[in-house]
Amino acid sequence: MIVSRARLDDLDAIMILEAAGFDHAGWSRDSWAAELTGSDRQVLAYRDADDRLVGVATLQLLDDFADLLRVVVAPERRGQGIARKLLIASILMAQASGAGRVLLEVEQDNAPALAVYTRLGFSPVDRRRDYYGPGLHAIVMELPIEALSSSSPSLKEVAS
Ligand SMILES: CC(C)(COP(=O)(O)OP(=O)(O)OC[C@H]1O[C@@H](n2cnc3c(N)ncnc32)[C@H](O)[C@@H]1OP(=O)(O)O)[C@@H](O)C(=O)NCCC(=O)NCCS
Repeated sequence: MIVSRARLDDLDAIMILEAAGFDHAGWSRDSWAAELTGSDRQVLAYRDADDRLVGVATLQLLDDFADLLRVVVAPERRGQGIARKLLIASILMAQASGAGRVLLEVEQDNAPALAVYTRLGFSPVDRRRDYYGPGLHAIVMELPIEALSSSSPSLKEVAS
């Protein structure tokens, strides 16, 4: 596993992932720069053996919970467990910072993302109509970190 903190000089590579990952509602370079420099943000990168950044996830750490804001993986590297590893590492960081749960919003038609989150143990807790634009509804999902045991298979996967 090659997961590490993303750096400001990863911005070009992140923008390539961003452009390939989202047809609409893409984040600007300024938005990603704010993620990389924000004091309450944790941006994790997954790098190939040749140091190419092929996945990124960003988390906002709030008082007693964390908000998973974005995860994107290079199209040619999808289906290899990269998002899963990034998200498990993010959840562990949230846990270490004292968060009791992780929340996220996901477009209700984004089947791959819904599958990743569900497989990690997130459950739908709310729905936001037209959150991403007319007809583009969001599902709010939650993962109670407190319920996770340090012996759970998911956590062992990245802790080892
Ligand atoms: C969503 C996304 C990040 C998933 O990345 P990924 O690295 O391919 O996901 P993983 O390989 O870690 O998949 C983890 C699990 O999710 C499920 N999954 C992933 N992609 C899936 C798909 N296309 N269809 C069905 N299930 C899928 C699988 O169950 C998988 O685990 P398993 O094979 O062990 O059962 C990727 O598709 C992506 O970058 N999409 C565009 C950006 C986006 O929509 N981001 C999410 C909203 S911010």
